[in-house]
Amino acid sequence: MSNKPLQLGNLKLKNPFFYAPLAGCSDYPFRKMSAQYKPGIMYCEMVKMDALVRHDPHTLHILDFSIDMHPIGAQICGSKPGIAGKAAKMVEDLGFDVVDLNCGCPVDKVTKDGSGSAMLKTPDLIGEVIANMVAAVKIPVTVKIRAGWDDDNIIAAQIVKIAESAGAAAICIHGRTRQQGYRGPANWDYIKAAKEAATTIKVIGNGDVIDGPSAERIMAYTGCDAVLAARATMGQPWIVEDIIRYFSGLPVIPKTLEECRQALYQHFLYTKQYQNDLRVCVDMRRVGCWYLKKSSGTRHFRNIISKATSIDIVEDMILNFPLGELIEDEMPEEAADCCA
Ligand SMILES: Cc1cc2nc3c(=O)[nH]c(=O)nc-3n(C[C@H](O)[C@H](O)[C@H](O)COP(=O)(O)O)c2cc1C
Repeated sequence: MSNKPLQLGNLKLKNPFFYAPLAGCSDYPFRKMSAQYKPGIMYCEMVKMDALVRHDPHTLHILDFSIDMHPIGAQICGSKPGIAGKAAKMVEDLGFDVVDLNCGCPVDKVTKDGSGSAMLKTPDLIGEVIANMVAAVKIPVTVKIRAGWDDDNIIAAQIVKIAESAGAAAICIHGRTRQQGYRGPANWDYIKAAKEAATTIKVIGNGDVIDGPSAERIMAYTGCDAVLAARATMGQPWIVEDIIRYFSGLPVIPKTLEECRQALYQHFLYTKQYQNDLRVCVDMRRVGCWYLKKSSGTRHFRNIISKATSIDIVEDMILNFPLGELIEDEMPEEAADCCA
């Protein structure tokens, strides 16, 4: 267990604390915020292989990144071995450091064609898809899975073996099942068993990592080589800094509400540079609540920002909203009804 650099294939990562792919959230402005704090690696939102190989402009837009975001991974979702290699090569040619295969997305519109978490039902197909990706690229290939489809079908350790034989450099295990969605605690026993099955492949533990102590606990309990923070990165792009300080025995310096407001303003500015005005207003309804979730009285903020029709109103709101008292943190509520 350490906060030391981690070798992933030919890539040396400065620390083993990663930022998750988050569909609808880990977009370009989100990653601009994250880049300031240097996670071991950050992932873009997932994209569909089919859309990528037909050069769909919206899909390519999702994969936009800037130089300060390195090391950065793209995640592809799909179950067709025939196009997996081509999609992975496109990711490599775009300049990504890592390409990841999504085998965890629970939404029906993804699983209905056998992709995302539905691949947990076809483990050999996972191996075939990974092998084709590995054959097509020089960058490390990783795969992100859930522990299994449901509690009666826990399959993580078996997929570790398959992914390892297919040449994946790492496997990320989300310790929840597909049936579980995002409810209830992640079961780290599944990650522990998966790590025990691994020989050369790196194991990344995921689920309920929210700060330094939880990062330390998951590493100590499961023996995983790295951890992936997901919902906890929303509105806390600095979480990797807190984790590294904790591992180094340094006190974590809590952010004041005013600092959270300034971070939200920075996120707003990045969004304004990147999106059109309407989209900025819509995005800030979601993002604003993340950053101010530690302030009491944010219901009023939510109500107003969710009705704001101009970028000037949003900006004024962010800069002048009267902050309340600091309250205990919780995971963003949005996570419960999120899309991936
Ligand atoms: C809004 C949202 C979007 C997500 N999008 C993706 C995604 O695109 N790809 C993926 O592999 N996992 C996705 N996930 C799952 C997370 O990466 C992570 O596995 C999960 O939230 C568990 O970690 P946590 O308990 O730390 O939040 C998403 C989760 C949420 C809440």
